[in-house]
Amino acid sequence: MDRVNSGIRPTGFLHLGNYFGALRNFIKMQEENECFFFIADYHSLTTHPTPLDLQSNVRNILIEYIAAGLDPEKATIYVQSDVPQVCELSLLLSMNVYVGELQRVASFKEKVRRQPDNVNAGLLTYPVLMAADILLHRADKVPVGKDQEQHLEMTRDFAQRFNRIYKHEYFKLPVAYNFGSELVKIPGLDGSTKMSKSDNENSCIYLADAPDVIRKKVMKAVSDSGPTEPGQPKTQAVENLFQLMKAVSSPDTLQYFEEQYQNCAIRYGDMKKQLAADMTAFVQPVYERILELREKDDYIRKVAREGAERARESAAKTIKEVREIIGIKPF
Ligand code: ADP
Ligand code: TRP
Repeated sequence: MDRVNSGIRPTGFLHLGNYFGALRNFIKMQEENECFFFIADYHSLTTHPTPLDLQSNVRNILIEYIAAGLDPEKATIYVQSDVPQVCELSLLLSMNVYVGELQRVASFKEKVRRQPDNVNAGLLTYPVLMAADILLHRADKVPVGKDQEQHLEMTRDFAQRFNRIYKHEYFKLPVAYNFGSELVKIPGLDGSTKMSKSDNENSCIYLADAPDVIRKKVMKAVSDSGPTEPGQPKTQAVENLFQLMKAVSSPDTLQYFEEQYQNCAIRYGDMKKQLAADMTAFVQPVYERILELREKDDYIRKVAREGAERARESAAKTIKEVREIIGIKPF
C-alpha cells in the first residue's frame, strides 16, 4: 500500500483551487492508501498571523477537510504542530541543504519580490520543512496543485542526498500526484491565472461561501466585451470562466457555451448565471456540513487528538531510524 502525505496552510478558508488541486485528491486517495493529511500551521507562521486568527484558521480547515469528505476512520488527519518531530527532521535535513539552492526557489523569489519587508528565514527554509513533512511519513505520493511541483522536486533531491551521504536507501523519492494525471491549476474570478487567497480574496470561491455569496462573486467576475469574429482567441479572463465551468459544470453545458462563444453569440451574463448555479450545487452540500460541524466541538477535538497520536507514532519511528543512521545514539 502506498503512503500518502499532504497538507494545506491555514491562512483562511479553503477555496475551489485548494479543492481541485489538493483536497479532491485527498478524498479519493484515502480509499486505497495509507494517508496522512495535515494542517500546515508551522508553515503559515511565515505570514505572521495573530494567535487568535491562527487558532480559528486551523479549526476551520479541520472542519472543511471533514465536511468535504475526508474520513478520520480512513485517513490520519492531524495538525502539523501536534507532531513536533517534524522540526527535528527539518533541522537534520537542513545540514545538507545549501543556502544557494534555497535562494533560487521560485516561490521564495516571488515572496522577496512581493514582500521585501518580510523576507524571514522561515520563508527561505520553507522547502526543507515541507520535505520533512513528507519524509517524516516516508510518503510515496503527495497530492498537490501545480504550484508545488518545484517543492516536490526539492524533496526528492534532499531525500536522495540523505540516502547517498549515509549510503542507505532509506527515504523513498516521493512524487507529486493528481488523479487526472496532470497537476491542476484553477484560475481566479478576477482574471488571474491562479485562484489564491494570498494573492486576491476576490479571485476565490470558498467551500464555506453561502449560495448568495457565490452568486454575487460570480456575477462580478471579470470577462470582456465578447468575440467579434469566429475563432477569435479567448482573453485570459474569459478562458478562466471556461476553465471554472469545466471544473464544476457538465460537459454538455460547457460545450453549449463553447459553441456560443465560437458563433460570437455568447452572453457572459447567461454564462455566469449558469456557472454560479453549478458552483452553488457543487459547494452547497459541503457548505451545509461545515455549518453542522462548527457546532460539534467535541468531535472536532477528538479527530485532532486521535490524528495527532497516529501521526506521532509514524513520526517517532522515522526519527528513531534517522537518528541511528546519522549516528545519534543514546549512550
Ligand atoms: P493559496 O495559494 O490560496 O494560499 P495554498 O498555498 O495554501 O493556497 O495551497 C494549498 C494547496 O492547494 C496546495 O496543494 C496547492 O497546490 C493547492 N492550490 C492552491 N491554489 C490552487 C489553484 N488555484 N489551483 C490548483 N491547486 C491549488
Ligand atoms: N507548501 C504547501 C502549500 O503552500 C503546503 C505544504 C506544507 C505541503 N507541507 C506540505 C503540501 C507537505 C504537501 C506536502 O500549499
